[in-house]
Amino acid sequence: MLAKLKEKINSINAVRNYRKIYPYVRPYWLRALLSVLITIPIGSMDAVIAWSLKPYMDVVMVEKSTSATSYIPILIIVFSCLQSLLNYAGTYLNTWVGRKIANDVKMDLFDRLMACDASFFDKTTSGQVLFGYNSDVDMACNGLLSNLKLFTTRVFSSVSLVAVLFYNSWQLALIAVVVLFGALYPLTTVRRRIKSVMDKTIFSGSAVMSHYNETYNGNRIIASYNLYDYQRKRFRDTLTQVFKLGIKMIQRTGMMSPLMHFIVSLGIAAVIWTGSYLIVHHQISAGNFVSFITALIMLYNPIKSIGNNYNNVQMAFMAMERVFSKLEKLPAIRNRQNAKELKGIAKGIEYRDVCFEYNKGHPVLKHINLKIDIGQTIAFVGNSGGGKTTLVNLLPRFYEVNSGAVLIDDVDIRNYTLNSLRDNIAIVFQDNFLFAGTIRENILLGKENATEDELKRAVKDACLEEFVGSLDKGLDTEIGERGVLLSGGQKQRIAIARAFLKNAPIVILDEATSALDNKSEAVVQQAIDNLMKDRTVFIIAHRLSTVRNADRIVVVNYGEIVESGTHDELLAKENGVYASLYKSQLR
Ligand SMILES: Nc1ncnc2c1ncn2[C@@H]1O[C@H](COP(=O)(O)OP(=O)(O)OP(=O)(O)O)[C@@H](O)[C@H]1O
Ligand SMILES: [Mg+2]
Repeated sequence: MLAKLKEKINSINAVRNYRKIYPYVRPYWLRALLSVLITIPIGSMDAVIAWSLKPYMDVVMVEKSTSATSYIPILIIVFSCLQSLLNYAGTYLNTWVGRKIANDVKMDLFDRLMACDASFFDKTTSGQVLFGYNSDVDMACNGLLSNLKLFTTRVFSSVSLVAVLFYNSWQLALIAVVVLFGALYPLTTVRRRIKSVMDKTIFSGSAVMSHYNETYNGNRIIASYNLYDYQRKRFRDTLTQVFKLGIKMIQRTGMMSPLMHFIVSLGIAAVIWTGSYLIVHHQISAGNFVSFITALIMLYNPIKSIGNNYNNVQMAFMAMERVFSKLEKLPAIRNRQNAKELKGIAKGIEYRDVCFEYNKGHPVLKHINLKIDIGQTIAFVGNSGGGKTTLVNLLPRFYEVNSGAVLIDDVDIRNYTLNSLRDNIAIVFQDNFLFAGTIRENILLGKENATEDELKRAVKDACLEEFVGSLDKGLDTEIGERGVLLSGGQKQRIAIARAFLKNAPIVILDEATSALDNKSEAVVQQAIDNLMKDRTVFIIAHRLSTVRNADRIVVVNYGEIVESGTHDELLAKENGVYASLYKSQLR
C-alpha cells in the first residue's frame, strides 16, 4: 500500500519534471516528436516478423506448399533493413535533440552558477561544481532521451507483439500478459533502492574531480613538500569509496535481473505446457504456436534488459531533479523588488552597527560603525584575521550583513541593483585572478570598450609601461592560465590597471601593493594617489607606509574598531595600538 503510494508520488514527480523540461524541448519539438514517432514503426516491425511465421509454418511446414509464401523471406529482409534504417534515423534525431537540449540547459545553469553567492563558492568544491553543473546535465538529457527512445520503441514493440499473441491464441496470450506484469513488478522498487547510493556516489564522484583540480592547482606545494604519498593515499581512498558504492549499486539493482529472468522462464514454461495441450486438442495450429512463441521471446527478451534500462531512466530522472533544483534556486543575494540603479555617489558611505559572521556563532565583525565622506581615503590596519577583508567585502555585497546596514548616500545598499552597485566599485585584491589570454584582454576587462588612449593611460598609471615595453609582443603577450607566466607584482599591476580603466567612484585596494618591491611600490603609490583623486577609497595594508597619507586610519582588531584617526593623531596617542604598530615597523 505504502509502496504503491510512493510509486504514485514518483510518477507525479516524473510528470512534473517533464513539464519543467518542456520549455527546453519546445524549440526542437518537431524533431523531438519525430524521434518519438519513428519508434512506432521500429517497434511494430518486430511483430511483422513474428506474425509472418504463422503462414510460413502452416503453409510450408504443414501443407508442404511454397507457392503462396515465397514472398516471406524477401519480406523479412525488406522489413529488417527498413527497421535498421529507421533505427539509425531515430538515433540521429534523438542525439541531435538531446545534445541541443543539454547545451541549452547548461547555458542556463552556467548563468545560475555565475550568479551564485560568494558563500556558495566557499562551501562548494570544484568537483561538485563540475559534477552538478556539467555531468548531471549530460546524465539527465542524454540518458533520458536515449532511454525514452528505447522505452517508446519497447512499448510499441510490446503492444504489437501482444496483438500477435492474441491473434494466435487468446488463452496463451492471457498467461503471457499476466507473467509480463509480474516480471515488471520488481522495477517499482528501483528508485527507493538506488536513491541513497546515488547521492553518495555523486559526493564521491565529485571528490575525485576535486582531487584532480587540487593536484593541478597545488602542484608546486605537492612537489615542494613531497606530498606524493599523501595525495596518492587520499586519491586511492576516494577511488575505493567510489568502487564500493558502484558495487553496492549493483547489489541493489543486480538481483532484479535474475528475478525477472526467473519470472519470465515461469511464463515460457506455462505457455509451452498449455500450448502443447492446445495443439494436441487442435485448438491452435502449429503455425500459431511457433508464431506465438517467437512473439513471446521477442517480447520477453527486452524485458530482461529493461531492468538496466529502467535503472538508467531513474538515474537520469534523479539527475534531472538535481538540475532543476539548481535552476530554481535563487541566490540569497539578489536584487530586491524595486531596487534602484546606483548612479555614482554624492555624499558618502556608512556602516551602521554592522554585525557579520560567516558561520553561526562565530562573529567576525561586531557592531561596526563607520562613516566615509565622498572623496575620502580610509585605511584599515589591524591583526591578521581581524576582519578587514570581510569589512570591505560587504560593500559590493559579496556577503550580506547579519544585522545593521551598509549605506551609500543614506540608502541601504540592498536597495540598489547588484549590477549598478558593483559597477561603482573597482577592487584590487591581494591575490588577483587573471584569465587566460593577453595582457590587453585582461586589462580591458575593466572597461570593454575602452579606447586605445584610455588603455595606454591605464598602463602608464599602473606603472606597467616599462614591463610591457620590454615584451616582444607588448600588450598582446599571452599570460597563461591564471597569469602563471607573470610575477606576483606584475599580476598586481595588471589588476591595478584594470581598476584604473574601470574608473569607478569607489575603489577598494586590499593589500594591492603587497607584492611590489619598495621601489615599484613608491611608483605605484604615486599612481594610486592619482587614482584616489576625487574617489572614495578603502585601502587595506600591513605596510603602514602605504597608509600614512590616508584621511583616516581605522584599526580593526578581532572584529572591532579599536582606534581611528589620522596618522598624526594616532601616533600622538600614548600606548596607542597604531603607534606601537608603527614603531615596531620602523624598527
Ligand atoms: N569565506 C570565509 N568563510 C568563513 N570564514 C572566513 C571566510 N573568510 C574569512 N573568514 C574568517 O573571518 C575572519 C576575518 O577574516 P578576514 O579575511 O576579514 O581578515 P583580515 O583582517 O582581512 O586578515 P588579513 O590581514 O590576514 O588579510 C578570519 O577569522 C577568517 O578565518
Ligand atoms: Mg585580508
